[in-house]
Amino acid sequence: MGIGNKKNHETSYLKERWQNRSEIVPPDIEDFTSQFNEREFLLKEIETFASENKVPILLPSAARFLQIICRTKQPEEVLEIGTGIGYSTLSMLFALNGRSRITSVDFNGERVQIAKEFIQKSGFFVNLIYDDAFNVISNFIAEGKQFDFIFVDSMKSEYIFMNFKIQTLLKNNGIAVFDNVLFRGYVCGRYPEKYRRSVKLLKTFLKHVKEYPGFTASIIPVGDGLLILERKG
Ligand SMILES: C[S@@+](CC[C@H](N)C(=O)[O-])C[C@H]1O[C@@H](n2cnc3c(N)ncnc32)[C@H](O)[C@@H]1O
Repeated sequence: MGIGNKKNHETSYLKERWQNRSEIVPPDIEDFTSQFNEREFLLKEIETFASENKVPILLPSAARFLQIICRTKQPEEVLEIGTGIGYSTLSMLFALNGRSRITSVDFNGERVQIAKEFIQKSGFFVNLIYDDAFNVISNFIAEGKQFDFIFVDSMKSEYIFMNFKIQTLLKNNGIAVFDNVLFRGYVCGRYPEKYRRSVKLLKTFLKHVKEYPGFTASIIPVGDGLLILERKG
C-alpha cells in the first residue's frame, strides 16, 4: 500500500468508526451483507441519521441476528438496556410485527427523545423508560418481574455489575444477548493501554458468565461480538 493509499485508508477508517463499522468484521463484508439484507426504510433512515450525527447504533448484521432470534423465539416480554436512538428496538419490533411488549431503558435524554420520534414514525408501541438501567433493573427484581428476552447494549464496563441481575430477570428458557463483548477484538489479545480497565472488566464478566449455573453461554462473532445466554428450562 503506497503512502497516499495509507492516508486514505486511515481517513476512511476514522469515518468507518462513526459509521458503526465493526472492527471484528472487515468493513467490505459488513457492507456486502448490509446491502444483501433487505430491511425497512425506517431502519435505513436511522442508520443514515446515526452515521451523520455520530451516534452509536447496533451494526446492521448484528441487528439482523437479533431479528432472527426474535422471530424464532417470539418473546412476549422483552427488556432492552440501552435504547440509544431506537435502532435495535425497532429492529426487534419489525421482526416481531409489533406483537411483543418491549420495555427499553436509556439515561441519555437527548437520545430517548430521538428514539421516541422514530418509534412514533413506526406506529409501534414501546414502554420507553428514561432512567439509569441499574434503578430500573433493581425495581423489576423487587417486583419479581421477568422477561423472555433481554437485549443489553449499554456500557461494556457495566456488564459485570449487571450480570447476575440480568440472569434473575430471565424466565426459564429465556435468552439474553449482550452486545460488544469482543470489544473490537481487544478481549482476545492486544489492546491500547487506555482500554485496560474496560478489557479487564469485560474479561472478568465473560469468566463469571461461564461459571454461572443453569445457563448456556455462547459468544458469536457478529457485530462487535454478541454474547448469548440461554436459561435452561
Ligand atoms: C450503543 S448505545 C445503544 C444503541 C442502541 N441499542 C441502538 O442500536 O440504537 C448505548 C446506550 O446505552 C446507554 N446507557 C449506558 N449505560 C446506561 C445505564 N446505566 N442506564 C441507562 N442507559 C445506559 C447510553 O446512554 C447509550 O445511549
